[in-house]
Amino acid sequence: MKKFFITTPIYYVNDKPHIGHAYTTVAADVLARWRRLEGGEVFFLTGTDEHGSKIAQAAQSQGVTPQELVDRESQKFRDLWKDLNISNDDFIRTTEARHRETVGKVFERLLKKGDVYKGHYEDWYCVSCESFWLESELTEGNCPDCGRKVEKLKEESYFFRQSAYEKKLLEFYDKNPEFLSPKKRAQEMVNFVKSGLRDVSVSRLKEKWGIAIPGDAGHTVYVWFDALLNYLTASDPKIWPPDIHLMGKEIFRFHAVLWPALLLALDLPLPKKVFAHGWWTAEGEKMSKSKGNFVDPRALIPDYGVDGIRYFLLREVPFGADGDFSMAGLTARYNSDLANNLGNLFSRTLTLIEKNFGGALAAAPPGDIVQGLAGKLKLVRDAYDRLAFSEVLEILGAVVTEANRYIDEKAPWNLVKTDKAAAEKTLAECLAVLRWLACAFYPVMPASAALMWGQAGEDSDLSQEALKVLEDPMHGWTPGRKVQKGQILFQRKNKP
Ligand code: ME8
Ligand code: MG
Repeated sequence: MKKFFITTPIYYVNDKPHIGHAYTTVAADVLARWRRLEGGEVFFLTGTDEHGSKIAQAAQSQGVTPQELVDRESQKFRDLWKDLNISNDDFIRTTEARHRETVGKVFERLLKKGDVYKGHYEDWYCVSCESFWLESELTEGNCPDCGRKVEKLKEESYFFRQSAYEKKLLEFYDKNPEFLSPKKRAQEMVNFVKSGLRDVSVSRLKEKWGIAIPGDAGHTVYVWFDALLNYLTASDPKIWPPDIHLMGKEIFRFHAVLWPALLLALDLPLPKKVFAHGWWTAEGEKMSKSKGNFVDPRALIPDYGVDGIRYFLLREVPFGADGDFSMAGLTARYNSDLANNLGNLFSRTLTLIEKNFGGALAAAPPGDIVQGLAGKLKLVRDAYDRLAFSEVLEILGAVVTEANRYIDEKAPWNLVKTDKAAAEKTLAECLAVLRWLACAFYPVMPASAALMWGQAGEDSDLSQEALKVLEDPMHGWTPGRKVQKGQILFQRKNKP
């Protein structure tokens, strides 16, 4: 079977990584881990976008060379991904030789084919968005996307014959209704293409910080043309095409229109899915450099743990919608779902088993809750297929709540005095649920899941056993094996 190929955008290195970048990368990681858990092979790619005017300007204002800046800043993304337990298989930088080689080859091939040609560009450019605009597209003379000042560009330029692919793109969208997601954003793209595609400028004459155009000194490749090709550079031909490109909604159009048009021109298969999620604001405001309100995920780790952050990002907002990040929201979610519900279920179940049964239980025939887990797994699979991460976590949260209610109702702390066998049976049922939950939470909270697995008395590699246990909760249950109630999984927070 072909490896499941999943990507994040490659991030610009002129900004420090913040919660928005972490969002896409964590989502991709969860999907990658879920797919691996399901037994598939995965190629998970992320990286940094290091060319273009924006980077060159940032370097200049800091008094360093562009190369110094990109080396230093790219490392910050790598470090953060390590801290957040991201399991990417490759990390691509557009300044690497392997990438320059791909871009050069693609450019030459399209030039030869006539899909890239030389002409003159005369319109507007937004450095911040690295986007070209027609006069008529500007909003009160400014960039229609970010509102910043645009500059007039009048220069010799290479163009990609995007207009030639208008009909083919529309046919492709039509035949592949799953390609553009979510649905509500797809129609905008279709309408955009229907309104007519222009050829696009794919080079810059005065920008030195970029990939030189083969045989035409002075011209460099336009940063978006360069950036999109990263997916090709990093891919082994055997795993082409990508199964999912994940990104924020502001760069959906580049991936939904220009990118597939380029691939059509190259006669390469198109990605299976392009998914644009929403934007996070911070305490009600758009995160921006000027406001200095970037949320640094690393600063949250000491209090909420890596898994608390991963959980919050995916649970709080339905994937695709916009959301607001606030410390109060993070604390409330962490306390209610993780400390009070999930953490408490583990802590009380294991305490009761240790106190009353010396830590080990006989296997019990599965009762209603355990028998219901097969149905939950089906729902979880379906939610993952739709990238509905918040639904996955709601389904699992409902299992936790149900198990807590079951313990309240059976009150094994009393039952043990009158009917020890019945109490043991109740707790065995709960322990089976704990083992299953450890497996089910693994993709979202890998480190905590491993702790849960160990506390439930297991010493095998969770990621190897997870699928079997999810499908058969009694798989690997060893009567007499001792649970190990260790550290508190999620420490309750008193204030935001
Ligand atoms: O656009 N909310 O890079 P970039 C949610 N280099 N997601 C956010 C976010 C927020 N507030 N802020 C950033 C580029 N993101 C190009 C991409 S790909 C071939 C080239 C995430 O550094 C989200 O995934 O501006 C968004 O699309 C991406 O970071 C933009 O990162
Ligand atoms: Mg951006």
